[in-house]
Amino acid sequence: TEKLPLLGKKVVVTAGPTRERIDPVRYISNFSSGKMGYAMAEAAVSLGADTVLISGPVDLPRPVGVQLIQVESAADMLEAVLANFGDASMVVKSAAVADYRPKEQHSQKMKKKDGDSSIELERTTDILKTIGDNKEDQILVGFAAETNDAISYGMSKLMNKNLDYIIVNDVTDPGGGFGNDTNVVTLLTGKGKQFPFDAMNKKQLAKVLLETIMAEERSITDD
Ligand code: PMT
Repeated sequence: TEKLPLLGKKVVVTAGPTRERIDPVRYISNFSSGKMGYAMAEAAVSLGADTVLISGPVDLPRPVGVQLIQVESAADMLEAVLANFGDASMVVKSAAVADYRPKEQHSQKMKKKDGDSSIELERTTDILKTIGDNKEDQILVGFAAETNDAISYGMSKLMNKNLDYIIVNDVTDPGGGFGNDTNVVTLLTGKGKQFPFDAMNKKQLAKVLLETIMAEERSITDD
């Protein structure tokens, strides 16, 4: 179990952006490529997990050995996560989920009119907070995409969402963030430890992150 610490365990990973429709031809989204989440799913497989990858729209091949569930919006992602949460041992939320969606979704293409226009937005459900509030013995791992004061914002997300771990990335770092093949992160634990990592390829980094988390879990059970 040292080499395959997730053998026989169900791990749910979310990845990519969500798309929030304005009308049949337009949407609101973000720059997530899915690379970090797909790397986390591959790392889970390599550590023996039965891996479910819930992915927003991305342009990446399906990782070998995962069950892939493709979704579009934050609401779709919420539904897929809830359906897979009960028997999961771990949930890793790498997806960049939209915090807002258009209040109204037009069924016909909106017509151009003279002058300015605006779109009213409403909040989406926070998926991670929803499962954090309802967790039993699942290990919950969040990500935090920050542009300033990354560690302190990350720590407050860890606490507010009732997480066990959070992986904080300063998305303004030229070696990391959205779209890049590499990332620069710090892993924060619910027990107050900090593990900073150098810039690393997302695939390598994903494996080190999961191994560090599983080593922490072993040290908690050994206490
Ligand atoms: O996909 P890449 O191009 O490889 O880029 C990787 C990444 C920068 C997207 C990734 O490393 C990352 O940071 N993902 C989380 C992005 C994000 O939405 O962070 P946040 O700080 O806004 O949200 C905090 C956490 O809450 C995240 O785990 C997020 O999945 C979750 N969340 C947020 C909103 C919401 N409605 N539901 C959620 O579950």
